[in-house]
This record gives sequence, structure tokens and C-alpha cells, in this order.
Amino acid sequence: MSYNTIISTQEHSIATITINRPNKLNALNKETIGELHNVFSDLEKNKNIKVIILTGSGEKAFVAGADISEFAQFSEKQGRKLAVKGQKILFDFVENLSTPVIAAINGFALGGGLELAMACHFRVASDNAKMGLPEVSLGAIPGYGGTQRLPQLIGKGRAMEMIMTAGMISAEQALSYGLVNHLTSQEELLPLCSKLAQRISNNSSVAISYAIKAVNAGFINTVNGYEHEIKAFGACFGTDDFAEGTSAFLEKRKANFPGS
Ligand code: COA
Repeated sequence: MSYNTIISTQEHSIATITINRPNKLNALNKETIGELHNVFSDLEKNKNIKVIILTGSGEKAFVAGADISEFAQFSEKQGRKLAVKGQKILFDFVENLSTPVIAAINGFALGGGLELAMACHFRVASDNAKMGLPEVSLGAIPGYGGTQRLPQLIGKGRAMEMIMTAGMISAEQALSYGLVNHLTSQEELLPLCSKLAQRISNNSSVAISYAIKAVNAGFINTVNGYEHEIKAFGACFGTDDFAEGTSAFLEKRKANFPGS
């Protein structure tokens, strides 16, 4: 199948999906989210594929977030729908895929980009990578599972700080937080992920799919948290701060939040 915003390649039992909107730092628009759903779904059905590596095209970004230009004018209801649909068809879908997914973070992983990397089964980063959840600087909150998965991965206090400051952490800091498992140079990133994928592919794919479900089952009590996030995310879209935050980004100026 051919795609507009992603590239899917296969080598032996390992598939690599590259999100390919480098001019927009691989920001996730509706089309990209739909294409990612389709490619993950097809690869999961392909029993020859044992591991999937997910990365971004270019040298600058994994994914710099959800595409702000698409949702800046959304109402509360549309905001809630955006989170519900995205969580269902991409973020929860990837987390629960029976084929292992490794995020190869090759640059900025911000907002929806970090949320997508966190939905993958584990993460490897190149040393230029920068990670963060900048949503509150736009007057929104993470809406693709970020308020749930970040504390699961790095602990509540660190997650609160990252979310509240909207700041970025370096790849070294992400490694020390346990947000990524390995750190390497940009050129060694995909070879290292392939090596890990190769080791995984030597094991029982059936057993691995059961292991993924068993590990995820331990976090199922967070389901109300995801629902809470969706409601709160939608509510942000009705605020003046959201209108100001997203307009300021698109107009390339600093936001001046009215606080309402
Ligand atoms: N949504 C839509 N467009 C985005 C985007 C996003 N999340 N992130 C980057 N882009 C676009 C920029 O608007 C720009 O497009 P243009 O050339 O048509 O103006 C292009 O990608 C390059 O980005 P630019 O900001 O010029 O690169 P930079 O190196 O100066 O800055 C970032 C890089 C990542 C710091 C900056 O792009 C940024 O802050 N992006 C938004 C991050 C964010 O808030 N994500 C969460 C969204 S919920």
C-alpha cells in the first residue's frame, strides 16, 4: 500500500515505519494518524513481521507534536473527539499491538510525538533528541495519553514537572529518567534498534504477544485517568488561554495568556 505521510519498509522480519513530513517536523495531522493506524494494523496481521521500528524522517525530529494548525479553531466537543479518536486508533492501538514496537527517537519528540513514543513498547534515542510535553504552553493539556503514560514511565513528580514547565529534557536526562532505554549517536540509532529487533525476533512471537498483554494488564486501573484526560483536554478548547496559545504559535509570537 502507498502512503502520503509515512514510509514503510521491511527487511527480513523487521519493519520500519518512518513518519515523513519533515517540513512540518513530522507533526501528526489527521492523515498521518489514519495512515499510521492502517500500517500498524497491516503489519500486525503479517505473521512474517516480528518487530516494528517507528522513527521520523530527517535529522531534526521524531515528531514535533500533533499538528497545531489542524485543531487551533476546534470547539470543546471537537477537542474531546480529537483525543478520543486519536487514543483509540493510534496510541492505545500501538500500546496493545501484539507485535513489539520500538520507538527510534531521532530528534524532537514533543507533545503527541512523545505520547506516541510512550505508547510504543520501549524507546531508544539519539543524542540530539529532545523530549517534552509542551501542551500547557498552548493552553491545552496532553490529550493522547501523556498525563497517564509519562508518570507510569518516569514517576509522578518528574512527570508533573515536565508537564507544568512545558520544558524539554535532553536525551541524557531521558535516559537517566528511564524514559528511553538506550542512547546512541544519530547514525547508530537505526542499526542499534535493528540489533535489538533481531534479538527479539529470535524469540517466540506468540509468547511475546502474551507478555505485552500481561504487562499492559498491570496498568489497566488507569483507564479512568485516560477518560478524565479526554474530558479535561476537551475543556481546554473552550478557554481563552487555548485560543491565545494556539494563535500565538501559528503567528510565531510569545503567548500572553489571559488566564481564563
Ligand atoms: N504543529 C504544526 N506545525 C508544526 C509543529 C506542530 N506541532 N511543530 C513544528 N511545526 C512546523 C512549524 O510551524 C514550521 O512550519 P513553517 O516552516 O511552515 O512555518 C516547521 O514545522 C518547522 O518548525 P520551526 O518551528 O520553524 O522549527 P524550529 O527548529 O524553529 O523549532 C520546535 C522547533 C520543535 C521547537 C518548534 O517547531 C515547536 O515548538 N513546535 C511545536 C511543539 C509543540 O508545541 N508540540 C505540541 C503540540 S500539541
